[in-house]
Amino acid sequence: MNILLIGGGGREHALAWAVRRSPLCDQLYCAPGNGGISELADCVPLDVAHHQAVIAFCKEKAVGLVIIGPEAPLVAGLVDDLAAVGIKAFGPSAAAARLEGSKGFTKDLCAKYNIPTAGYGRFTDASAASAYAATLPLPVVIKADGLAAGKGVVIAETRTEADAAIADILGGQFGDAGAELVVEEFLHGEEASLFALVDGEHALLMAGAQDHKRIGEGDTGPNTGGMGAYSPAPVLDAAMEARVMDEIVRPTVAAMKAEGCPYKGVLYAGLMITKDGPKLIEYNARFGDPECQVLMLRLKNDIVPALLATIDGTLSDIALDWHKDAALTVVMAAGGYPGSYAKGTVIKGLVEAGTVEGVNVFHAGTVRDEAGQIKSNGGRVLNITAMASTVAEAQARAYAAIDKIDWPDGICRRDIGWRAIQREKQGKE
Ligand code: AMP
Ligand code: GLY
Repeated sequence: MNILLIGGGGREHALAWAVRRSPLCDQLYCAPGNGGISELADCVPLDVAHHQAVIAFCKEKAVGLVIIGPEAPLVAGLVDDLAAVGIKAFGPSAAAARLEGSKGFTKDLCAKYNIPTAGYGRFTDASAASAYAATLPLPVVIKADGLAAGKGVVIAETRTEADAAIADILGGQFGDAGAELVVEEFLHGEEASLFALVDGEHALLMAGAQDHKRIGEGDTGPNTGGMGAYSPAPVLDAAMEARVMDEIVRPTVAAMKAEGCPYKGVLYAGLMITKDGPKLIEYNARFGDPECQVLMLRLKNDIVPALLATIDGTLSDIALDWHKDAALTVVMAAGGYPGSYAKGTVIKGLVEAGTVEGVNVFHAGTVRDEAGQIKSNGGRVLNITAMASTVAEAQARAYAAIDKIDWPDGICRRDIGWRAIQREKQGKE
């Protein structure tokens, strides 16, 4: 079967790596891809916002499966348009992708179906939003309703900050994505993510992961797309995973079906493990980036039958098998990220880095130039991903690989996995 993968980040490189191993995969295309993906797939410059162009490409190349990495094409209804002409596409319909595309939609669904989440209100009026925020203890959380590239959430420590965030969002800071906002209660606890495949009816647990969103060591400084991740997440032990599936994921799958918009694809639950149990922070309608990189390393199965079963509604026939080992990924970013940064700097030593035992180097924002050199082409540039029997050992392998990379402009955090490593140490004492 010919397969088209949409996206060009580290998540898509990891997906391309997993798909390429499948005996079911003949030609693999990727739009737009990146410097690493170009070794595994034929990278094509398709305008994915132009659905008819994607359909024409699939027909011309006899593509039997389209895998969509990022959220924007899902929310824009690419899966619906492909399905309408009989092309199988992995990911939710636009109506189901509202779980990520509209925070208000998800909060209302949770309220209607008793899915545990933070208390909230939805507002289009600033004074009503401020009045509600004033009834909640500090810090208070203010969120733009729609997609805001991970920047639409403010944890306000003071009333003044809360009012300013409300004014900024409703004042057009995020365009239409901020025409409405959600004000919610701050949840205390440890954050973790859980990934499940969902075929409209059944949910199949994949695994848990934790990521590091902040740019600075010790989880400080501005938020980013994610500076590293690891799986499994020690806070999500088997009992907690089962609770999340029973109390949050399965009720959501049933609710989406009851609402007439069954969810198909991967459901990424962002969770807070509070003293009262797991609560939903948010859903994403796609794999996490960089969480996908660690999941793909741990997955033993051929991923393609699982993706097809998700589309066909036959997930109950699939069993997934995971390496017990821990996988950890460290993001190397261009200096200056998440602020302004340079593109086009030369990266060397990637082959040497890939020779470290247990290590896979996934590319995110890279390009391969005509001379075959790899150059940076984005903020998050490389994902050095390693597997080992402990998080500490996986971390050591990832940093050993990073030390072989010759890229003077590259930066990374040196403490990825610290919380899990601390737990491993405590467990031994
Ligand atoms: P989101 O874009 O909804 O994932 O929010 C970004 C980050 O803000 C989350 O990963 C959490 O760290 C934090 N956050 C969002 N909502 C809450 C909440 N209700 N309580 C505590 N932290 C939150
Ligand atoms: N790593 C966070 C995300 O993919 O949203």
